[in-house]
Amino acid sequence: MRNVVLIGFMGAGKTAVGKSLAQHLSSSFIDTDHLIEKRTGKQIKEIFAEQGEEAFRKLETETVKEVSEKEDQVIAVGGGAVLREENVQALKKNGVLVYLKADLAILFERTKGTQKRPLLEVPSPKEEIERLLSIREGVYQEVADIIIDTSALSVPEVVSEVEGEIGRENPG
Ligand code: S3P
Repeated sequence: MRNVVLIGFMGAGKTAVGKSLAQHLSSSFIDTDHLIEKRTGKQIKEIFAEQGEEAFRKLETETVKEVSEKEDQVIAVGGGAVLREENVQALKKNGVLVYLKADLAILFERTKGTQKRPLLEVPSPKEEIERLLSIREGVYQEVADIIIDTSALSVPEVVSEVEGEIGRENPG
């Protein structure tokens, strides 16, 4: 099976959907942020604070390239991963890119209250989400093979939508 790569903004549900989808497909689940945390022994927010965003992006690209070499995986990547063209190329080599889309209000609700996301540790996180989304939305749409609006869906509903869509992409 080709990899199923979940892309989209922070709070889109990539990790929750990815874990469940991987179980359904009997494939392994890889979350590139978790892999980076495991390997460095640091949380993403510590990497940002101690080494800066560029250092994180470098680790992210290395990790994306490495995981893209294998097949039969569900891969969730961080919300900024597909902004680098080299990451997109690597992920597309063995994978289908599924954009989990959600409205601004939903993304805000799903991300507020956690301190795991350094880019949203700002005085007005909602405005920051809006600003980043306006920059990124076009990229997500453009690189995606499949787009699913998750705003009104539960995790199991998104999982079955993704299964249906990848089935249509690869009939039989
Ligand atoms: C980022 C998203 C985060 C993480 C990092 C940067 C981004 O992952 O990679 O904080 O640039 O959107 P999630 O999308 O899983 O929250």
